[in-house]
Amino acid sequence: MNEVFISPKKKGKIAVFISGRGSNFMAIHDAVAAGKINAEIALVFSNKKNAPGLEIAGQRELNTFNLKPKDFSSNEEYDQVLVDEIKKRNIDLICLAGYMKILTPGFCEAFKYKILNIHPALLPSFPGLHVQQKAIDWGVRFSGATVHFVTADVDMGPIVLQAVVPVLQDDTDETLSDRILKEEHKIYPEAVRLYFEGRLEVRGRRVFIR
Ligand code: GRF
Repeated sequence: MNEVFISPKKKGKIAVFISGRGSNFMAIHDAVAAGKINAEIALVFSNKKNAPGLEIAGQRELNTFNLKPKDFSSNEEYDQVLVDEIKKRNIDLICLAGYMKILTPGFCEAFKYKILNIHPALLPSFPGLHVQQKAIDWGVRFSGATVHFVTADVDMGPIVLQAVVPVLQDDTDETLSDRILKEEHKIYPEAVRLYFEGRLEVRGRRVFIR
């Protein structure tokens, strides 16, 4: 029988992991600040010390933290230190938001059903990188965004929410990315809201919204 997971109904502690500009982090933080999500952002973590999003998190007076991959001998060692840091802070949910470092299976296992990611395509189509351009090049008529649980199988965890956008004939990587990003900023906070309302029920691959 499929394992069943139901997300906790509680005031949650979120860690957001970023590597870049952090617009999804800001969308989640804005929703938290507006009282739409029953949670606080307890930590913004980055593998890149100079990530612009980390600076914004500092300006917003959130706790920030970074670890440089080159200070570690392996990804396993890096992620083990990160597991300890996250556990120390009693984090309930990790939101990957443009975090460009692949999590080790050990990390994914340590936080099973406690990691979400946003991906700028309609998974399982176009996993991986540069997926907006790949959607254009493939000639699909629609693409979009996916919020999913993270498993060791990259971009393949159970899907929570998706949003669809058209791919237009004159789209460039930039115009399609912008159209998708607007939807990302809606569905990511929405997924986090549902999570802490105790409304996400995972049965095998399927996520039911209660
Ligand atoms: C987004 O397109 C997201 O889907 C992908 O990385 C990008 C991050 O953008 N995973 P931002 O840093 O949240 O602005």
